[in-house]
Amino acid sequence: MEPLLTQDGTPTLFHPGYGEAYHPRQGALLQARRLYLEKTLTHLHPAPRVLEVGLGLLVNFRTTLESALERGVYLRYLAVEREPLPRDLLAQVRLPLPRAEEVFAEILKGWPQACFRGPWGELCILFGEVEALELPRDWATAVYLDPFSPRANPGPWSLAVLQKLRRALRRGGRLATYSAQGGFRRSLKAAGFALHRVPALGKREWTVGIALKAPPG
Ligand SMILES: C[S@@+](CC[C@H](N)C(=O)[O-])C[C@H]1O[C@@H](n2cnc3c(N)ncnc32)[C@H](O)[C@@H]1O
Repeated sequence: MEPLLTQDGTPTLFHPGYGEAYHPRQGALLQARRLYLEKTLTHLHPAPRVLEVGLGLLVNFRTTLESALERGVYLRYLAVEREPLPRDLLAQVRLPLPRAEEVFAEILKGWPQACFRGPWGELCILFGEVEALELPRDWATAVYLDPFSPRANPGPWSLAVLQKLRRALRRGGRLATYSAQGGFRRSLKAAGFALHRVPALGKREWTVGIALKAPPG
Protein backbone atom coordinates (compact mmCIF):
# COMPACT_ATOMS: atom_id res chain seq x y z
CA MET A 1 0.00 0.00 0.00
CA GLU A 2 1.22 3.50 -0.93
CA PRO A 3 0.02 6.74 0.70
CA LEU A 4 -2.32 8.85 -1.49
CA LEU A 5 -3.25 12.48 -0.86
CA THR A 6 -6.79 13.53 0.02
CA GLN A 7 -8.14 16.95 -1.00
CA ASP A 8 -7.06 18.70 2.22
CA GLY A 9 -3.48 17.62 1.49
CA THR A 10 -3.36 14.89 4.17
CA PRO A 11 -2.62 11.27 3.31
CA THR A 12 -4.66 8.11 3.22
CA LEU A 13 -4.25 4.54 1.96
CA PHE A 14 -6.36 2.32 -0.26
CA HIS A 15 -7.01 -1.16 1.14
CA PRO A 16 -7.26 -3.60 -1.78
CA GLY A 17 -8.98 -6.28 0.32
CA TYR A 18 -11.96 -4.08 1.23
CA GLY A 19 -11.76 -2.05 -2.00
CA GLU A 20 -11.98 1.14 0.08
CA ALA A 21 -9.73 3.99 1.20
CA TYR A 22 -9.02 4.57 4.89
CA HIS A 23 -10.43 8.12 4.65
CA PRO A 24 -12.79 10.11 2.41
CA ARG A 25 -11.25 11.86 -0.59
CA GLN A 26 -12.43 15.25 0.78
CA GLY A 27 -9.83 15.04 3.54
CA ALA A 28 -8.48 12.67 6.17
CA LEU A 29 -7.69 15.42 8.67
CA LEU A 30 -10.88 17.31 7.86
CA GLN A 31 -13.03 14.30 8.70
CA ALA A 32 -11.06 13.60 11.87
CA ARG A 33 -11.68 17.15 13.12
CA ARG A 34 -15.19 17.87 11.95
CA LEU A 35 -16.68 14.45 12.61
CA TYR A 36 -14.84 12.44 15.21
CA LEU A 37 -13.31 15.17 17.37
CA GLU A 38 -16.03 17.81 17.21
CA LYS A 39 -19.26 15.83 16.83
CA THR A 40 -18.39 13.86 19.95
CA LEU A 41 -17.54 17.14 21.76
CA THR A 42 -14.15 15.66 22.60
CA HIS A 43 -12.54 19.00 21.69
CA LEU A 44 -14.29 20.50 24.73
CA HIS A 45 -13.97 17.66 27.22
CA PRO A 46 -11.75 18.33 30.27
CA ALA A 47 -10.75 14.64 30.66
CA PRO A 48 -11.42 12.85 27.36
CA ARG A 49 -11.48 9.06 27.16
CA VAL A 50 -11.85 7.96 23.57
CA LEU A 51 -12.60 4.43 22.39
CA GLU A 52 -11.88 3.97 18.69
CA VAL A 53 -12.79 1.04 16.44
CA GLY A 54 -10.16 1.08 13.67
CA LEU A 55 -6.95 2.91 14.59
CA GLY A 56 -5.66 2.72 11.00
CA LEU A 57 -3.18 5.51 10.26
CA LEU A 58 -3.79 7.18 13.65
CA VAL A 59 -5.22 10.27 11.96
CA ASN A 60 -8.13 10.46 14.41
CA PHE A 61 -5.79 9.75 17.31
CA ARG A 62 -3.31 12.47 16.33
CA THR A 63 -6.06 15.01 15.67
CA THR A 64 -7.55 14.32 19.10
CA LEU A 65 -4.13 14.45 20.73
CA GLU A 66 -3.33 17.82 19.11
CA SER A 67 -6.55 19.24 20.55
CA ALA A 68 -5.76 17.82 24.01
CA LEU A 69 -2.20 19.19 23.93
CA GLU A 70 -3.39 22.64 22.82
CA ARG A 71 -5.81 22.67 25.75
CA GLY A 72 -3.44 21.09 28.28
CA VAL A 73 -5.76 18.17 29.05
CA TYR A 74 -4.71 14.56 29.60
CA LEU A 75 -5.97 12.19 26.87
CA ARG A 76 -6.86 8.55 27.40
CA TYR A 77 -7.30 6.73 24.11
CA LEU A 78 -8.17 3.05 23.70
CA ALA A 79 -8.21 1.68 20.17
CA VAL A 80 -9.21 -1.64 18.66
CA GLU A 81 -7.28 -2.67 15.56
CA ARG A 82 -7.21 -6.02 13.81
CA GLU A 83 -4.61 -5.21 11.15
CA PRO A 84 -1.96 -2.85 12.57
CA LEU A 85 -0.02 -1.13 9.81
CA PRO A 86 3.75 -1.56 9.59
CA ARG A 87 5.92 1.11 11.18
CA ASP A 88 7.63 2.05 7.88
CA LEU A 89 4.31 2.80 6.27
CA LEU A 90 3.03 4.82 9.24
CA ALA A 91 6.26 6.81 9.23
CA GLN A 92 5.36 8.10 5.75
CA VAL A 93 1.99 9.39 6.92
CA ARG A 94 2.75 12.77 8.45
CA LEU A 95 0.18 15.36 9.44
CA PRO A 96 0.38 19.15 9.93
CA LEU A 97 -0.11 18.78 13.70
CA PRO A 98 3.19 19.87 15.27
CA ARG A 99 2.58 18.84 18.89
CA ALA A 100 0.98 15.50 18.09
CA GLU A 101 3.64 14.64 15.51
CA GLU A 102 6.33 14.86 18.20
CA VAL A 103 4.47 12.29 20.29
CA PHE A 104 3.77 10.20 17.17
CA ALA A 105 7.52 10.04 16.44
CA GLU A 106 8.06 8.60 19.95
CA ILE A 107 5.19 6.12 19.47
CA LEU A 108 6.71 4.92 16.20
CA LYS A 109 9.95 3.99 17.98
CA GLY A 110 8.05 1.38 20.01
CA TRP A 111 5.40 0.46 17.41
CA PRO A 112 3.49 -1.84 17.71
CA GLN A 113 2.96 -2.37 21.43
CA ALA A 114 -0.04 -2.55 23.72
CA CYS A 115 0.33 0.79 25.53
CA PHE A 116 2.19 4.07 25.09
CA ARG A 117 2.28 6.58 27.93
CA GLY A 118 3.69 10.04 28.45
CA PRO A 119 2.89 13.40 30.02
CA TRP A 120 0.40 13.84 27.15
CA GLY A 121 -1.73 10.85 28.19
CA GLU A 122 -1.97 7.24 27.03
CA LEU A 123 -2.72 5.25 23.91
CA CYS A 124 -3.60 1.60 24.48
CA ILE A 125 -4.39 -0.80 21.65
CA LEU A 126 -6.39 -4.00 21.74
CA PHE A 127 -5.11 -5.99 18.78
CA GLY A 128 -7.90 -8.13 17.32
CA GLU A 129 -11.46 -7.97 16.05
CA VAL A 130 -13.90 -5.80 17.92
CA GLU A 131 -16.49 -8.57 17.53
CA ALA A 132 -14.40 -10.88 19.73
CA LEU A 133 -12.76 -8.48 22.21
CA GLU A 134 -13.92 -7.54 25.66
CA LEU A 135 -14.20 -3.79 26.22
CA PRO A 136 -14.20 -1.88 29.52
CA ARG A 137 -17.66 -0.97 30.84
CA ASP A 138 -18.81 2.58 31.46
CA TRP A 139 -15.39 3.90 30.50
CA ALA A 140 -15.45 6.10 27.37
CA THR A 141 -16.59 9.70 26.98
CA ALA A 142 -16.62 9.21 23.19
CA VAL A 143 -16.63 6.38 20.66
CA TYR A 144 -15.13 6.83 17.20
CA LEU A 145 -16.63 4.07 15.04
CA ASP A 146 -14.34 4.01 12.01
CA PRO A 147 -13.97 0.54 10.47
CA PHE A 148 -14.50 0.00 6.74
CA SER A 149 -18.08 0.36 5.51
CA PRO A 150 -21.03 -1.83 6.53
CA ARG A 151 -21.20 -3.12 2.95
CA ALA A 152 -17.54 -4.19 2.81
CA ASN A 153 -17.13 -5.09 6.48
CA PRO A 154 -20.45 -5.79 8.27
CA GLY A 155 -19.10 -7.28 11.54
CA PRO A 156 -18.22 -4.09 13.45
CA TRP A 157 -21.62 -2.54 12.60
CA SER A 158 -23.67 -5.40 14.04
CA LEU A 159 -26.16 -5.01 16.88
CA ALA A 160 -23.96 -7.14 19.17
CA VAL A 161 -20.95 -4.84 18.65
CA LEU A 162 -23.06 -1.68 19.02
CA GLN A 163 -24.44 -2.99 22.32
CA LYS A 164 -20.88 -3.63 23.48
CA LEU A 165 -19.89 -0.07 22.47
CA ARG A 166 -22.93 1.30 24.28
CA ARG A 167 -21.89 -0.50 27.47
CA ALA A 168 -18.35 0.90 27.11
CA LEU A 169 -19.69 4.46 26.78
CA ARG A 170 -20.66 6.58 29.76
CA ARG A 171 -24.14 8.04 29.96
CA GLY A 172 -24.31 11.22 27.84
CA GLY A 173 -21.29 10.12 25.79
CA ARG A 174 -21.40 10.27 22.00
CA LEU A 175 -20.59 7.81 19.26
CA ALA A 176 -19.69 9.31 15.87
CA THR A 177 -19.32 7.60 12.52
CA TYR A 178 -19.25 8.49 8.84
CA SER A 179 -21.83 5.85 7.92
CA ALA A 180 -25.49 6.74 7.41
CA GLN A 181 -26.57 3.24 6.38
CA GLY A 182 -30.17 2.41 7.33
CA GLY A 183 -29.59 -1.03 8.84
CA PHE A 184 -26.74 0.27 10.97
CA ARG A 185 -28.85 3.21 12.19
CA ARG A 186 -31.69 0.89 13.24
CA SER A 187 -29.22 -1.26 15.18
CA LEU A 188 -27.73 1.83 16.81
CA LYS A 189 -31.17 2.80 18.17
CA ALA A 190 -31.81 -0.79 19.28
CA ALA A 191 -28.49 -0.72 21.16
CA GLY A 192 -29.67 2.19 23.34
CA PHE A 193 -28.51 5.30 21.48
CA ALA A 194 -30.50 8.40 20.56
CA LEU A 195 -29.89 8.79 16.81
CA HIS A 196 -28.84 12.12 15.29
CA ARG A 197 -28.38 12.73 11.58
CA VAL A 198 -25.72 15.37 11.11
CA PRO A 199 -24.78 17.21 7.90
CA ALA A 200 -21.58 15.77 6.43
CA LEU A 201 -18.74 16.90 4.19
CA GLY A 202 -18.72 15.33 0.74
CA LYS A 203 -21.84 13.25 1.43
CA ARG A 204 -25.29 13.92 2.80
CA GLU A 205 -25.10 12.78 6.40
CA TRP A 206 -22.93 11.37 9.14
CA THR A 207 -24.36 9.66 12.24
CA VAL A 208 -24.06 10.56 15.91
CA GLY A 209 -25.51 8.38 18.66
CA ILE A 210 -25.94 9.77 22.16
CA ALA A 211 -25.93 7.33 25.05
CA LEU A 212 -28.94 8.73 26.86
CA LYS A 213 -30.69 5.58 27.91
CA ALA A 214 -29.21 2.79 29.97
CA PRO A 215 -27.86 0.00 27.74
CA PRO A 216 -30.47 -2.72 27.15
CA GLY A 217 -29.90 -5.96 29.05
C1 LIG B 1 -11.21 3.38 7.82
S1 LIG B 1 -9.78 2.71 8.55
C2 LIG B 1 -9.57 3.67 10.03
C3 LIG B 1 -8.85 4.97 9.88
C4 LIG B 1 -8.38 5.51 11.22
N1 LIG B 1 -9.46 5.72 12.14
C5 LIG B 1 -7.49 6.73 11.15
O1 LIG B 1 -7.72 7.68 11.89
O2 LIG B 1 -6.53 6.72 10.37
C6 LIG B 1 -10.46 1.19 9.20
C7 LIG B 1 -9.57 0.45 10.18
O3 LIG B 1 -10.42 -0.46 10.90
C8 LIG B 1 -9.75 -1.68 11.08
N2 LIG B 1 -10.79 -2.70 11.24
C9 LIG B 1 -11.69 -3.09 10.31
N3 LIG B 1 -12.52 -4.01 10.81
C10 LIG B 1 -12.16 -4.20 12.11
C11 LIG B 1 -12.63 -5.05 13.14
N4 LIG B 1 -13.66 -5.88 12.94
N5 LIG B 1 -12.03 -5.01 14.35
C12 LIG B 1 -10.97 -4.17 14.54
N6 LIG B 1 -10.48 -3.35 13.59
C13 LIG B 1 -11.05 -3.36 12.39
C14 LIG B 1 -8.94 -1.83 9.81
O4 LIG B 1 -7.86 -2.73 9.99
C15 LIG B 1 -8.50 -0.40 9.53
O5 LIG B 1 -7.26 -0.13 10.12
